This record gives sequence, structure tokens and C-alpha cells, in this order.
Amino acid sequence: MQGRLEGKVAIVTGGGAGIGEAICKKFAREGAAVVVAGFVEDPVRAVVDEITAAGGRAVAFTGDVSHQQTAEACVKLAVEQFGKLDILINNAGVFPTTSTIDTYPVEAFEYLIKNNVYSTFMMTRAAMPHLQKTRGNVVSAGSESGEIGLAQNSPYGASKGWVHAFMRGVAVEQARNGVRANCVCPGPIDTAWTHKETGPMTAKMEKGLVAGTPMGRRGTTEEVANVYAFIASDEASYVTGALYFVDGGTTVSKGPDGDEVPSELKQEPEGQLAVEHSKDGHTKIREADAGHMV
Ligand SMILES: NC(=O)c1ccc[n+]([C@@H]2O[C@H](COP(=O)([O-])OP(=O)(O)OC[C@H]3O[C@@H](n4cnc5c(N)ncnc54)[C@H](O)[C@@H]3O)[C@@H](O)[C@H]2O)c1
Repeated sequence: MQGRLEGKVAIVTGGGAGIGEAICKKFAREGAAVVVAGFVEDPVRAVVDEITAAGGRAVAFTGDVSHQQTAEACVKLAVEQFGKLDILINNAGVFPTTSTIDTYPVEAFEYLIKNNVYSTFMMTRAAMPHLQKTRGNVVSAGSESGEIGLAQNSPYGASKGWVHAFMRGVAVEQARNGVRANCVCPGPIDTAWTHKETGPMTAKMEKGLVAGTPMGRRGTTEEVANVYAFIASDEASYVTGALYFVDGGTTVSKGPDGDEVPSELKQEPEGQLAVEHSKDGHTKIREADAGHMV
């Protein structure tokens, strides 16, 4: 059986960990050749090796894709290695702190803008001439918080609102070039960010996050990757300018609906991908970036 992405070439930013790992593995399984892009300290090479061992095609790219030259080098690598570029997945992003706005660290704000906004802009800009040649598409990581805001990390929600509007503008202007542009907007996903032990959320926030989700649990990285695979594929040929919510219903919930879910329905599905790095993500300001952001 042919994979849904057979013959396609894709770049996945933030592909070494969390949701990005699952996107890379899902895309490879569906037949795409994948450039797994991430910071130098991310388990990017491990993901490439795991994909290759499973019979897929992937290469690693390490660097900070919020910088213009690095973003251009990443796109160049895809074209040199695989001859073209069909799909750009702007998944890289950060969630470095939680704080109300009166004490929100300026350094954390700059870090958010650099990695959530600049990365998406630089990669989309660098990839567009190649996506125009293949009539390809770009899918960016939005968030339910980009629609409804996020208390105690209001700049994060705002950065995702920027991504939503950016993709919609790109969708309209690039339709005449045959390029589609969309967002996948996750709710609380089972990565390092949504656990108090590994990310900046407090116990209260973590509890509220699950209770405020009608399905009563976090989503798995694979459940998000499945939606990316559909939108990036030719099956979604009439989908552009769309925001696809993969959020267990949290965006439309008005209260602690998740508390009503029986425990057997709160189990995460096992899935099919050999996901190894869902909690290896990024939850603090990198030392390399401190003091010089954008
Ligand atoms: N986890 C969630 O609950 C959730 C919810 C909504 C949206 N999202 C979005 O999904 C995406 C992935 O989230 P995640 O939880 O998997 O995070 P994660 O930290 O597990 O993975 C993100 C990866 O991107 C990399 N990265 C960040 N900035 C980069 C840059 N400038 N250059 C290269 N690599 C960079 C990080 O090092 C990390 O490996 C993010 O854009 C996030 O905003 C996540």
C-alpha cells in the first residue's frame, strides 16, 4: 500500500523531541523523506537513526532556525539531499516560563518571540520559493491558546495567535502559486511542557489543564502527528487557511468537564509509532541564548 506522503520531501523543525519526533516518524512511515531539524543539543540524530533503522529516509539538521542564515541552510540541505521540498512543518517552539504579566521576565518574552515567531517567519520565507515549485504546503504549530489566550503565560498565547494570522495571510497570498498554508492547534499534549516535574507549570496549572479538557486527558504526540500527516498530504488538497484543533475539546469547554470522564476513558491510546523522545523537549531558556535574543 502506498503511504499518504509517498515521494514527498518534508522539513520538520523541532523534530528531535515532543510532538516533532512523532511528526517525523509518522511522515517517514507514510513515505516522506524527512529533514529532522532542531537545536544542536536536541536528540535529532537519535530520531534520524530510529527512522532509518525502521526503513525510513531522514537526515539531521542542527542549528537555530530563528536565524535567517540557519533557516536558509536548513532548506538548502533538504533540496540538496532530496532534490526538492514539498512540505514545511514549523513545529519548533518554546514555553520557557509561567508568570503573570506584571512580573513576566523580559528575557523570557524575547526568547518566546525569537523561537515561536522568528523561526516560523524565517523558515516559511526560506522555503517558499521551493514550495512554489512543487505546489507544496506549510503547516505551522498553532495552539488553542492562540485562539483563547493563556493566563499565566499570556505572551505564549499571543505568539501562537501571531502564527495563526501569519498562516492565514500566507494561505491567501500563496494560493495563486499553488501553495497551501495551515495550522495544527494542539491542546494539552503529553510532552515535557505539560508536567510540573519537567516544565514550568505549577501543580495547580497541570491539574486545571487536564480538568479543563472534556476528554479528561492529555493528547499523545502521535495523535497530533496524525493530523499533521493528513493536512500535509494531497488528501487535504482543498484545505488552506485553516486552524485544525487537536485539543480534546478544551477550546470549547466552559469548565472542569474533564473531571466527569470515567477513568477507563482517560487512558491514552497506545499508538503505532516507536516514540522515544516525547519528554526530551525544551522547557528553559538555553544558556547559548541568554543575553542576546533577536
Ligand atoms: N505540548 C503542548 O501541550 C503544546 C500545546 C499547543 C501547542 N504546542 C506547540 O507544539 C510545538 C511542539 O511542542 P512540544 O511540546 O513538542 O515542545 P518540545 O520542547 O518537546 O519540542 C520542541 C522542539 O523544538 C526545538 N526548538 C525550539 N526552538 C528552536 C529553534 N529556534 N531552532 C531549532 N529548534 C528549536 C526545541 O529544542 C525542542 O526540541 C510547539 O510549537 C508548541 O508551541 C504544544
